[in-house]
Amino acid sequence: MKTATINGIDMAYREQGTGQPILFIHAFPLHSASWDGQIAALSPHHRVIAPDLRGLGATARGGGASSLDQHADDLDALLGHLAIEKATVVGLSMGGYISFAFWRRHRERIAALILADTRAGADTEEGKQGREKNAKLAEEHGPGAIADQMLPKLLSANAPAALRDQVRRIIESNDRAGIAAAQRAMAPRPDSTPLLATIDVPTLVIVGAEDALTPPSESEAMFNAIPGCRIAEIPGVGHLSNMEAPEAFNAQVTEFLTPRQTFGIGGGGGGKW
Ligand code: MLT
Repeated sequence: MKTATINGIDMAYREQGTGQPILFIHAFPLHSASWDGQIAALSPHHRVIAPDLRGLGATARGGGASSLDQHADDLDALLGHLAIEKATVVGLSMGGYISFAFWRRHRERIAALILADTRAGADTEEGKQGREKNAKLAEEHGPGAIADQMLPKLLSANAPAALRDQVRRIIESNDRAGIAAAQRAMAPRPDSTPLLATIDVPTLVIVGAEDALTPPSESEAMFNAIPGCRIAEIPGVGHLSNMEAPEAFNAQVTEFLTPRQTFGIGGGGGGKW
């Protein structure tokens, strides 16, 4: 793990490899270790950067309330610190919500976009209330209670016990205040649906076919609204598709990033496979 001082906090991040940079933005309530399967596979050909978002993993929370815009600004500053002008941005779930904030605020840094197991829409009132309840659960009972509540929704019913344990370990290593802050940061995020038509970089949507939290219908809606977008559904896996099917996920990322010969991203040729 490396550390950089970013916007007044110590930000921890994984960095490996050289070449075209890829920035991985993790889901809630995880941290950068959730990208280990991507870092190992993609770093031989890419410069892979996977930060712990503010308040999660080994990154400090800082004072005051957190927001997705703050996370986006942290990532912009991290890329600046690393002298990276543009990167492929991969955001999974909450990481996808942050990718939309990043597009809104720092789009000049995005060379290409991968939106995995996420949605463009805002929370309903009920959803916002659920987040506040969840934030209080984290504060009062700690990350174990959050793991108990979320694990069944993060992986498919077929996920192996070892993977469940690994996800639980990641969640339980997070700080309760950081988990609560992330929930409260997601609640007021705006609807990013109107943004989708403005995305003019090559974009790939990936979704686990058994994703119960952000189901394939959400991915289909993003695919239909983003010009020239591609979509890949990974069969038999749930919300954390990158962890449950790392090989299939990595193959999609690699194919997407390989210079186009058989299909044209940037040339308006969206498609589904
Ligand atoms: C995530 O996986 O990042 C979260 O479950 C997303 C959410 O709570 O909306």
